[in-house]
Amino acid sequence: MPEASAVREMFEAVAPRYDLLNRVLSLGIDRSWRREVVESLSLSSSDRVLDLCCGTGDLALEIAEHAECVACDFTWNMLTRARAKSAGRNAGLAVAAADTLALPFLDDTFDRATVAFGVRNLADIHRGLVEILRVLRPGGTLAILEFSHPNRFWLRLPYRIYLNAILPRLGDVLSRRGEAYRYLAESIMGFPEPERLVELLAEAGYRDADFKRLSGGIVAIHRARK
Ligand SMILES: C[S@@+](CC[C@H](N)C(=O)[O-])C[C@H]1O[C@@H](n2cnc3c(N)ncnc32)[C@H](O)[C@@H]1O
Repeated sequence: MPEASAVREMFEAVAPRYDLLNRVLSLGIDRSWRREVVESLSLSSSDRVLDLCCGTGDLALEIAEHAECVACDFTWNMLTRARAKSAGRNAGLAVAAADTLALPFLDDTFDRATVAFGVRNLADIHRGLVEILRVLRPGGTLAILEFSHPNRFWLRLPYRIYLNAILPRLGDVLSRRGEAYRYLAESIMGFPEPERLVELLAEAGYRDADFKRLSGGIVAIHRARK
């Protein structure tokens, strides 16, 4: 598990180039992954959604076009970018500094919770999942978008080469933070297979956990209910 202070320091440093790197490293596909999360939630305008580990707010801003959304992160430089991006859009988005492992919300507050590319970075995944469950209302849904492991055999080797050899170099050239992108590669490879994440959700107390692979399994969306 990564240490929280190291994770925060790393994201403080990569924040200025975070959006650019996302677009380049995913060849722009990351936007469609986030859109698919929003579609999977069938939101209505009265829904209250909590987006955790919101970073620069890309998922939260999509959600805010359909429902009320509170976006939280513990990295200042990411949050200020999320705020700046939401300011121009007149979106129903509130931005708050909060640690996913100790959320400043009452029990049973939100209809939906989302985490995009954040669960992998939590210092304690079980604790994070339990804390999210606490603030979801009974029947509420959690959706997790996270890197996964390609299920197509032919994609596994090229993807490993991309993660280990190409991604850190691109990260270094574009943001001068090659170490952050080496961490990204390591954390993706060390992250549980989607079936195991289903088990982790059940162990944390969720029901009906399932998942859908996208882009040949490079990422997966998990959904589970309180
Ligand atoms: C890879 S970024 C993902 C950002 C955004 N969700 C996206 O889709 O681009 C991971 C984010 O998780 C945040 N994070 C990691 N651990 C956290 C925690 N315990 N509480 C709040 N935020 C956390 C980091 O600050 C960082 O902004």
